[in-house]
Amino acid sequence: MSACELCPLSKTRTRAVPGEGPTDAEVFVVGEGPGRNEDAQGRPFVGAAGRQLDGLLGAAGLERGRVFITNIVKCRPPENRRPARGEADACQGYLRRQLALVRPRVVVLLGDSALKRFLPDEGLATSHGRLLEAGGLSLFPTYHPAAMIYNRSLEEVSRRDFVELGRLVSRGAARP
Ligand code: URA
Repeated sequence: MSACELCPLSKTRTRAVPGEGPTDAEVFVVGEGPGRNEDAQGRPFVGAAGRQLDGLLGAAGLERGRVFITNIVKCRPPENRRPARGEADACQGYLRRQLALVRPRVVVLLGDSALKRFLPDEGLATSHGRLLEAGGLSLFPTYHPAAMIYNRSLEEVSRRDFVELGRLVSRGAARP
């Protein structure tokens, strides 16, 4: 991934951000794409959204170091715009291989970009905080932690979703 040139994001990135976490993680978190801090450090969710994510994982009783964290696209979209469909398509093979390697119990989808990649017909308003099955994966959509920064009313909703996630994981939500 660090040397990938499959899409135009490779031309503007500083560093690719493949993701990080144990390869036997039970929980696999998918965000949208690296932001400025992630692009500089080559690590996912290390900026303001990352601090929110760390807090939410805490609400779920999950340690960040025990969770695999990655994004739909591994390189920063300029101006933090939403990744284009072609960019996400080009990057999909990496995500698919990461999922095949880790075989998580639950895939947490952060925000609409991640949701639409896995469940194109779902919306966050109705799917957040629920476990859904698709493509042999157990999927758990919720709001993107950056959305909480702009919309404080989402804070409690997201926290409740993560508490529910923690409950599902401790109950041993099925690994496909
Ligand atoms: N937002 C994302 O979607 N991913 C990151 O890695 C950081 C912020």
